[in-house]
Amino acid sequence: MTLTGRELAIIRRWASGLEKIGSFEVNVFCRTNTKQIKVLFQGERRLEDIEEWLNCIEWAESDAKISQSNLPLRLISGKEIGIQSSHVYLGATPLHHCYFFCSTKPDTPFEPNLFSHLASVSWQNEWNADELHRQKSQRQEFVKQVTKDFEELTWLRSVSQHIGNATFRQSIDELVSTQLPKLRQVVDAEFIGLVPIEFVSDVGTDHRFELSTSGTTTLPAKKLNEFVKRCESNSRGQTSVFNTQSSSAVFDGFPELRNCIFTRLEKNGKIYGYLLALNKEVDFFCQSPEQFLMIDPNGFQFGTFEAGLLASLGTILSSHAANSELFREQEQLVTGVVRAVINAIDAKDQYTCGHSDRVAEFSKAIAQQMGLDEEECDRIYLTGLLHDVGKIGVPDSILSKPDRLTDEEFEIIKKHPEIGFNILQHLKPLAYVLPGVLHHHEAVNGKGYPYGLVGEQIPLEGRIIAVADSYDAMTSDRPYRKGMPSEKAESILCKEAGSTWDELAVFAIMECIASGMISPLSTKQITPTSNPLTSATLIPAMALSG
Ligand SMILES: [Fe+2]
Repeated sequence: MTLTGRELAIIRRWASGLEKIGSFEVNVFCRTNTKQIKVLFQGERRLEDIEEWLNCIEWAESDAKISQSNLPLRLISGKEIGIQSSHVYLGATPLHHCYFFCSTKPDTPFEPNLFSHLASVSWQNEWNADELHRQKSQRQEFVKQVTKDFEELTWLRSVSQHIGNATFRQSIDELVSTQLPKLRQVVDAEFIGLVPIEFVSDVGTDHRFELSTSGTTTLPAKKLNEFVKRCESNSRGQTSVFNTQSSSAVFDGFPELRNCIFTRLEKNGKIYGYLLALNKEVDFFCQSPEQFLMIDPNGFQFGTFEAGLLASLGTILSSHAANSELFREQEQLVTGVVRAVINAIDAKDQYTCGHSDRVAEFSKAIAQQMGLDEEECDRIYLTGLLHDVGKIGVPDSILSKPDRLTDEEFEIIKKHPEIGFNILQHLKPLAYVLPGVLHHHEAVNGKGYPYGLVGEQIPLEGRIIAVADSYDAMTSDRPYRKGMPSEKAESILCKEAGSTWDELAVFAIMECIASGMISPLSTKQITPTSNPLTSATLIPAMALSG
């Protein structure tokens, strides 16, 4: 049996305490399984004296006495030896194979029963004191653990809320940057970083990456890159823990590293990057040597708790990255299809070629100027592209009529917002474009169409697109007229702001024009083959929009 550090400390405190309260000397030793003697506590006697006494012991007889004894600590034999009239007694402690000699100072009377009692009480006191101390330390550990669990729960809740509120437009880099400092605290790492896959692929190039990190590492970027590759080649699963003791090959050439957690951000076979926690921080502060002895050596390494947290974050981030990618692909597909449809319409009505693209761009610029968020601006862009999709339902004979339209024909043209609405209304993912498509010819004074809505009854998208649409119609060249100078179009917009067009939208386009975000774009000259009235000039200002 091997004595623990705690037992050894109790033995030493007990022996030295016993010596202080009596006129005797205590030497403690233990017998190993191979019958070797190890001195654990040496009093004033020379080692030779102790060895001489040990030679006098009848071990077989002593062992038998110990096994018969019910007492926790007792003297099992006594013998007077030496010329100095010392009484030397052998005793056994409650610890297996741990014995002690008690000897009196020369010419000192000795009462074995009294000593036995004193030694037992003293032993019990030391044992109880240690037990109390151990319980106190355990309580402190418990409090520490509960605090850590609380921190972990708080962090997980914060991550789930943060990710839950994230949009697919946010990169994993943006998402993780606010979470890493807290995670580093919870796992006690010197450094935590998100290493994007591009960083690993582009080693040796001049391209510099801004990594999302928390804490510090002395590893330069190139070495960090090399270490990630080393971890990748040694990693068996999605998350691996490497420690110098068990995985020395991983740390070969990286003397500054002791241990790490490596998590691959992977979803559906695609790798988006890696999460890396380097060097476990250890709190060496101890209030007593006993507390030092109680330090868990596993605390010097990352364990399953820390690896689990990184793995959880890795799973969340890789899912987000994969979903964002799918979302972007879908968005690109939708935009591509919409653009194809718009091109088909523009081909049908040559005069307004490029008009939908410009209305989309102008509308987005106005929306940005009005402070709408990125997603709303993108939606307004798509609505601008589609605003005249209903023209596909207007007969070519009317769209291409070279002469002035009759009232009946004009009524047919005015149906294009509703036709557009009907075409698009079954496309659920594009439901957000419907208000703008249906209401882009409304006027804030109620004189627009199709419903004659007034002011804010008109959806914001409709009011924005009406301004963008009119500005482009006024400033674009037409086969039958030159486009107006921007100043003249601006003057018309300002004059009718609040009556035909929404004041705020007009104000926003003026700001965009002033800052250069919007500039009149003269279309290429188109050969007049169809009715100029259908494309731009219908009736006063409203009719200027397409
Ligand atoms: Fe229109």
